[in-house]
Amino acid sequence: MFGRSKNLVGLDIGSSSVKLVELKSGKNGYELVHFRMAPLPPEAIVDGAIMNSSAVVDALVDIITSEKLKTKQVATSVSGNSVIVKKIKLPQMTPEELEESIQWEAEQYIPFDIGDVNLDVHILGLDEHNVDQMEVILVAAKKDMINDYMAVIMEAGLSPQVMDVDVFALGNAFEMSYALDESSVTVLANIGANVINVNVMKGFQSTFTRDISIGGNQYTEEIQKQLSVSFEQAEALKIGGDPEGDLESSSTVIPQEVGTIIRSVSESIATEVQRSLDFYAAGSSDDKIAKIYLMGGSSKIIGLASVVENKTGISTEIANPFKEVFIDEKKFNVAHIQDVAPSAAVAVGLALRKMGDK
Ligand SMILES: Nc1ncnc2c1ncn2[C@@H]1O[C@H](COP(=O)(O)OP(=O)(O)OP(=O)(O)O)[C@@H](O)[C@H]1O
Ligand SMILES: [Mg+2]
Repeated sequence: MFGRSKNLVGLDIGSSSVKLVELKSGKNGYELVHFRMAPLPPEAIVDGAIMNSSAVVDALVDIITSEKLKTKQVATSVSGNSVIVKKIKLPQMTPEELEESIQWEAEQYIPFDIGDVNLDVHILGLDEHNVDQMEVILVAAKKDMINDYMAVIMEAGLSPQVMDVDVFALGNAFEMSYALDESSVTVLANIGANVINVNVMKGFQSTFTRDISIGGNQYTEEIQKQLSVSFEQAEALKIGGDPEGDLESSSTVIPQEVGTIIRSVSESIATEVQRSLDFYAAGSSDDKIAKIYLMGGSSKIIGLASVVENKTGISTEIANPFKEVFIDEKKFNVAHIQDVAPSAAVAVGLALRKMGDK
């Protein structure tokens, strides 16, 4: 009863794969207890909505069985067009007053019927330009979508305890591993298969977020179309691709077009990241962005970090969510985990949540 609250299992149901992470906290920080990814068939998740529940349940059961998972309580997250995250200003009020009035206040900010969404609010603090007002983060997610996530998780024999948003889980994963000073502005970009979650943080406080509907599948689909190959072949070419085109031997194995396609899609992704920074700058003070960290499986596209760096003029690197997590080499294939680490960012952030969290 007086013990520390129990850790949850982090479960990220992404459009290309499900990722599960369990951590335990000890004297010297976090240790990895479970980590596994299970692929999902294309179209199982479309724009964050579960289209093929049985495929997701199968992937979950597969992970639970292979890992002999004991902890059943999970934290999971959603993203996409059915999730709205907005920073709004409201007159100063107590958290209790906010709870009471939010349904009514939120109406004007949410493009859906207010009865169809789950609302959540988080007070950031007083507005520095007008102390009669406070800044609040408003999160609204379609109830139908949330219910679908809960249903597949329960069908797999797990118990959903916390429902988060990808972009905030990303921030939590980052905060565990990286030191930042309170006033510096950092951009996290989680580049998945279909979505990029952008989180602009001042210190570790999110000040701007945006989900962009583009990701690693864009490369695969372009390769598939231009080279008339299957999705699987295109995926293999993408991952083995040599975008510099400077390896003599690669031209026999990897068509040169692959490098050209990769460069061009990377340009589009970098343009979208830059557009997000423009939106951030338009709505915010003139704080300078110190650094961009890329996460997500597609951050591993060769050359993408430097394309983003050149486009934005901001130093860009790939972040490792396991940077400060102890991984016992007697229990895990450490090289493999480090290789796929960028894909685990959201699941790591979710695994930091505790029983009883909102
Ligand atoms: N080594 C690699 N090189 C290039 N791309 C890679 C590599 N490894 C994985 N990817 C790509 O990363 C993407 C998967 O990343 P991630 O697991 O972060 O996405 P997701 O969470 O399933 O999808 P989303 O969040 O967009 O719904 C796929 O498009 C995959 O092809
Ligand atoms: Mg993802």
